[in-house]
Amino acid sequence: MSALPHVPGIVARAHELSRRRGFVSSCRNETGWLLASLATSRTGTLAELGTGCGVGSAWLRSGMRAGAHLLTAEHDAGLVEAVREIFAGDETVSVLEADWKDLAPEAPFSLLFLDVREAKRAGPDMAADLVEPGGFVVLDDFTPCATWPPMYQGRVDTVRQQWLTDSRFSTVEVMVASDASVLIATRR
Ligand SMILES: C[S@@+](CC[C@H](N)C(=O)[O-])C[C@H]1O[C@@H](n2cnc3c(N)ncnc32)[C@H](O)[C@@H]1O
Repeated sequence: MSALPHVPGIVARAHELSRRRGFVSSCRNETGWLLASLATSRTGTLAELGTGCGVGSAWLRSGMRAGAHLLTAEHDAGLVEAVREIFAGDETVSVLEADWKDLAPEAPFSLLFLDVREAKRAGPDMAADLVEPGGFVVLDDFTPCATWPPMYQGRVDTVRQQWLTDSRFSTVEVMVASDASVLIATRR
């Protein structure tokens, strides 16, 4: 957890849900502050693949400008129900019980937080048609690495390598903590 002094109230509610459920895959605060900041730069529809306990959604929501909308997709019905309670009465957030692939008809998005392992592994081909020109794809949970090609646990990290070299995106790896980095890929 971050040493930053506070988190927005909506994020605290999602943290509480994560704790109650013993859910350990929520994004960390360092990523959350980045999501909130990127969300503030966006208009239109933002999307998240993999809602979990709503922590990433809450960070995105905390940064969103008036008029923007967030769609978040989760295939676990129990999580969907619980996260809908967190955002009850907030028409700017739609928590969908859906497979991540089912969000495609709602594209293009101005920001896509790609947080389902299978979707990440699908690589830039999958995401290229889902984001508008200038739109961001955000992928977290990387371990900072100074080598090229990027390595993880003794092997080339082909997911990271693909994202960093795909000509349809301008991609940067940003360290959000000494042990955590995030890819931000901007659609050309
Ligand atoms: C890493 S967690 C998401 C964490 C969340 N984005 C956050 O930042 O707090 C990944 C989530 O994706 C969901 N998931 C896995 N496969 C999925 C699929 N095919 N479609 C939709 N959701 C899926 C899991 O149930 C899990 O809740």
